[in-house]
Amino acid sequence: MSLGVHRLWKKYYVNLIENLHISSENILDIASGTGDIFYSLNRSKNLFAIDPISEMHSISKVKNSKKSISYETGFAEKMPYKKNYFQVISCTYGVRNFENRNKAFSEITRCLKKNGYFLFMEFGKPKRDLLLEPFNLYLNKWLPLIGSIVAKDRHSYKYLAESIQNFPSQDNIIMQAESTGLTHQKTIDFLSGANNIYIFKKL
Ligand SMILES: C[S@@+](CC[C@H](N)C(=O)[O-])C[C@H]1O[C@@H](n2cnc3c(N)ncnc32)[C@H](O)[C@@H]1O
Repeated sequence: MSLGVHRLWKKYYVNLIENLHISSENILDIASGTGDIFYSLNRSKNLFAIDPISEMHSISKVKNSKKSISYETGFAEKMPYKKNYFQVISCTYGVRNFENRNKAFSEITRCLKKNGYFLFMEFGKPKRDLLLEPFNLYLNKWLPLIGSIVAKDRHSYKYLAESIQNFPSQDNIIMQAESTGLTHQKTIDFLSGANNIYIFKKL
């Protein structure tokens, strides 16, 4: 859907994690999928991944065979970790899929250490009016069409478009996360907010 640009965004995102200078602390990747983030991260220990689809982990295990990652099959809304356990919790393109965002953010806050960071990257809607119309056209018309031709799966691409349209504004998502005890540090916008990185801290 990003026409491949998400690879650059993921690179930028991984650099951000590396610049937090966490030496031997635990890092959790939520909605870890096929393990892209840990694959790019320059570290091989104290890594934890959770995703509800075990087949995703199977792919990650092959891709990240040289890394020591502890996998859990489960949901962000109810995680099997001790409280104050992670220095960094990460989530790329997963927050949009959480069934109960409040519960998931509360779980993240519970599992995060004091002064730990929660970063997530997610698609959003561009803030600039000039971009909004072509963006909506791409999302609602072209994306489902491309999905049905290339992936033969119009339904999934329609869901993707709808979940992006229904995702809260930046202010609202920040408010939701802060209501569970996190403190917003920074938001980094790409393409005027079509893709964003949010950084929170547990003070
Ligand atoms: C678009 S993929 C992103 C995967 C990976 N983070 C990446 O950037 O390539 C979304 C992932 O969210 C996972 N997911 C869906 N609902 C979830 C939930 N409630 N808690 C945790 N993960 C969830 C899915 O299984 C899927 O692997």
